[in-house]
Amino acid sequence: MNRILVTEAVKGVAMDQLRDEADLEVVFEPDLWKDPESLVRNIAEADAIIVRNQTQVTADVIAAAPRLKIIARAGAGLDNIDTDAATAAGIVVSSAPSENSLSVAELAMGLFISLARNIPSANQDIRNGNWNRAAFMGSELSGKTLGVVGIGRIGTMVAQRARTFGMKIIAHDKFADPSAPHYTELDVTFVELDELLEQADFITVHLPLLPDTRRLFNEELFAKMKPSAYFVNTSRGEVVDEEALSNALKRGTIAGAGLDVRETEPPPQGDALVGTDKTVLTPHIAAFTNEAQERVVEAVCRDSAAVLRGQEAEGFFNFPLPKR
Ligand code: MLT
Repeated sequence: MNRILVTEAVKGVAMDQLRDEADLEVVFEPDLWKDPESLVRNIAEADAIIVRNQTQVTADVIAAAPRLKIIARAGAGLDNIDTDAATAAGIVVSSAPSENSLSVAELAMGLFISLARNIPSANQDIRNGNWNRAAFMGSELSGKTLGVVGIGRIGTMVAQRARTFGMKIIAHDKFADPSAPHYTELDVTFVELDELLEQADFITVHLPLLPDTRRLFNEELFAKMKPSAYFVNTSRGEVVDEEALSNALKRGTIAGAGLDVRETEPPPQGDALVGTDKTVLTPHIAAFTNEAQERVVEAVCRDSAAVLRGQEAEGFFNFPLPKR
């Protein structure tokens, strides 16, 4: 019988249905990602593996998996999977690239408003027994400039929502076609990154983690931003040099930051970005809505079952059928 190894908390109706399939055995080990040695042992018997972003599917893990036909990633980013090694081994890599985009875009909007209106600090202040209206003067989003770094699917959804708030949209994206109708409809002005950083009141990052995006936001880039700027990252923590961000907040180079993702998750004890009220922080929950997770889990369960039954994966990154 084909065995599907689930190494993180991937749950829901579609997973329950997968577990009921007579021709498939689902081994649900939601903490296995924490133990790489045990992962290597367990994957030897697996025909499919379903992961989120915490399981490191390295070349060594792939080499230990002679039966593996599909690596299904319950989410969008593939930075925890050695896709080159999987492709060379003939293993399908599939993901749910668009299923959680809307939820991520909505959280980015939530972070803009939280920062601009001091919602977390005001909430905490009331709970401390105060009623300090004057301490929480905020600013409107309307009339402000939003700089979108990476205006693909999620960046576009953020831009659409920001437009309805009356924001002006500027964007930087090496791969986007500025003449695409959806950019024209949103009146997006494409600019160089430096220009975006200099002009934007809010900056939102929607970049994949790649060698040239790792620690892209460094001391030099923060120095180009307005002292009133708010920086929001819901993509990958590693695109930010956190020490540089922390210094920028301390020195007043920028006004605040909203972060759903961190260089190290969870961040270490005594972390400077946790210790300042200039940040609004969430624990990598942008994709964690009931609706998005239903779509994501449905997609990875569907693709895993399909590939094991000799059918094509829909959300494939490399090829739809295994080559081994
Ligand atoms: C994604 O890449 O889809 C999100 O960051 C959520 C996740 O990693 O699970």
